[in-house]
Amino acid sequence: MSVRKIITIGDELLSKKCHEVTKFDDRLFALLDDMQETMRDSDGVGLAAPQVGILRRVVVIDVGEGYFELINPKIISCEGSQYGTEGCLSVPGKHGDVERPMLVTFEAYDRNGNKYDKTVEGLFARCVCHELDHLDGKLYVEIADNLADNE
Ligand code: NI
Repeated sequence: MSVRKIITIGDELLSKKCHEVTKFDDRLFALLDDMQETMRDSDGVGLAAPQVGILRRVVVIDVGEGYFELINPKIISCEGSQYGTEGCLSVPGKHGDVERPMLVTFEAYDRNGNKYDKTVEGLFARCVCHELDHLDGKLYVEIADNLADNE
């Protein structure tokens, strides 16, 4: 495992739409392992593959409810709403307020190619929405209010 370089806002790769994963192979495992290590090294709660320059639909998340790998994830349904602060490892030193659903049900594949679904709420739901936006080339700063520098 190794920590990969996180690319930041202004890099055109962050605005590209990512491709679906078709091969669940050693290369994918290495990417996932590196993404987990990179997320932990930066004290992040989520990381999307384009943030390390890989245009694949791969996300890792750990908001304190366990570590999850989301491959080719899709949001199936949303409920309610929450309004709160977000930041992004690709937009260092900033934060802003974003409205997101309170409850999100998504489906995804795990690293072995098994499909699963999960319903999450609160911070986990916020994180799923934020990371999936990355896979479509979208950054939270495009939809945030009160964008400001961190203290
Ligand atoms: Ni982000």
